[in-house]
Amino acid sequence: MKAIIYKKYGSPNVLEPVEMEKPIPKANEVLIRICATSVTTADCMMRRGDTFLSRILLGFAGPTKKYQILGTEFSGTIEAVGTTVIKFKVGDEVFGFRGFGTGCYAEYKCMNENGSLAIKPRNMSFEEAASVVDGATTALFFLKEKVNIQKGQKVLINGASGSIGTFAVQLAKYFGAEVTGVCSTKNVALALSLGAENVIDYTKKDFTSMEKRYDIIFDTVGKSSFTICRNALTYNGKYITTLMSFKHVLQSILTKFRNKQKVIFAMSVNKTEALNFIRILIEDGKLTTIIDRQFRMEELPDAHTYVESGHKKGNVVITLSH
Ligand SMILES: NC(=O)c1ccc[n+]([C@@H]2O[C@H](COP(=O)([O-])OP(=O)(O)OC[C@H]3O[C@@H](n4cnc5c(N)ncnc54)[C@H](OP(=O)(O)O)[C@@H]3O)[C@@H](O)[C@H]2O)c1
Repeated sequence: MKAIIYKKYGSPNVLEPVEMEKPIPKANEVLIRICATSVTTADCMMRRGDTFLSRILLGFAGPTKKYQILGTEFSGTIEAVGTTVIKFKVGDEVFGFRGFGTGCYAEYKCMNENGSLAIKPRNMSFEEAASVVDGATTALFFLKEKVNIQKGQKVLINGASGSIGTFAVQLAKYFGAEVTGVCSTKNVALALSLGAENVIDYTKKDFTSMEKRYDIIFDTVGKSSFTICRNALTYNGKYITTLMSFKHVLQSILTKFRNKQKVIFAMSVNKTEALNFIRILIEDGKLTTIIDRQFRMEELPDAHTYVESGHKKGNVVITLSH
């Protein structure tokens, strides 16, 4: 099978095409013929070897062999099943998440049937379905599981035009919150179309120095800090950050047991339940995806270059032609 691998941390040029053995599923695994995957900001960070925490997982000097194929989310078709598999059958169209397990920049991937895998939304193409996985489930994880968002709460989404941000705006709205999105001028119309009541253009105004207070500030792109946002939070408001760093881990531990403003940082791991919830919302027409650009698998270095410009709109998808 064809795959794109990287053997050292660095620029998008470290990504190289290779031919390798097609994997064979173990008894409890399914073999997925991958139809689409994506390039996320997290993929670019892993490729660069950014953050000490990510090197602990992927390898210090370079990615260990197990992690040399990047790609964290995918959609595809089940091509074979192991002898004990009961949840899926050959021909099922699925979407799923690998996270730090990666491995989606390849034509085939084996996965445990109990991994983050679910039947794909029937009203979405493979490209659309692949683009939903990480952004939507991460937004859901933080808003529902970590801060239990409530109807009527005032929620600010910083980075409302990014992958997590575009889903966070829609989900916060779905849960009945009053949503304010923060993005640049060119994305104001997008944030409004996704359901934000108010939009703050960060190139013109700074939400941290405005009058309004929020119950939840969700910084999906790591462009603010708890210290700077404190004045914009209510007395017991919650500051959510997606950015993995020692500072955020420490702040979330230190603020956990107090009865006022808290910092929330965590990683969502098993996403099966979230994928099934998201699928229902999509099939009911309550959640949509924004695809900025599509690239072919051979164009992955170009896709990485584009994503690390930091200004993609929603998602960047990779199609596999087989
Ligand atoms: N903790 C977890 O479980 C978890 C899971 C997944 C991802 N993550 C992390 O989440 C982060 C974000 O991922 P993502 O894929 O959603 O981001 P993304 O799509 O790459 O974000 C791009 C968006 O950021 C906006 N942006 C850039 N500068 C901004 C600023 N100063 N203020 C507001 N918006 C700005 C851009 O809009 P403009 O073009 O308008 O500037 C663009 O639309 C990554 O660091 C990733 O590692 C964490």
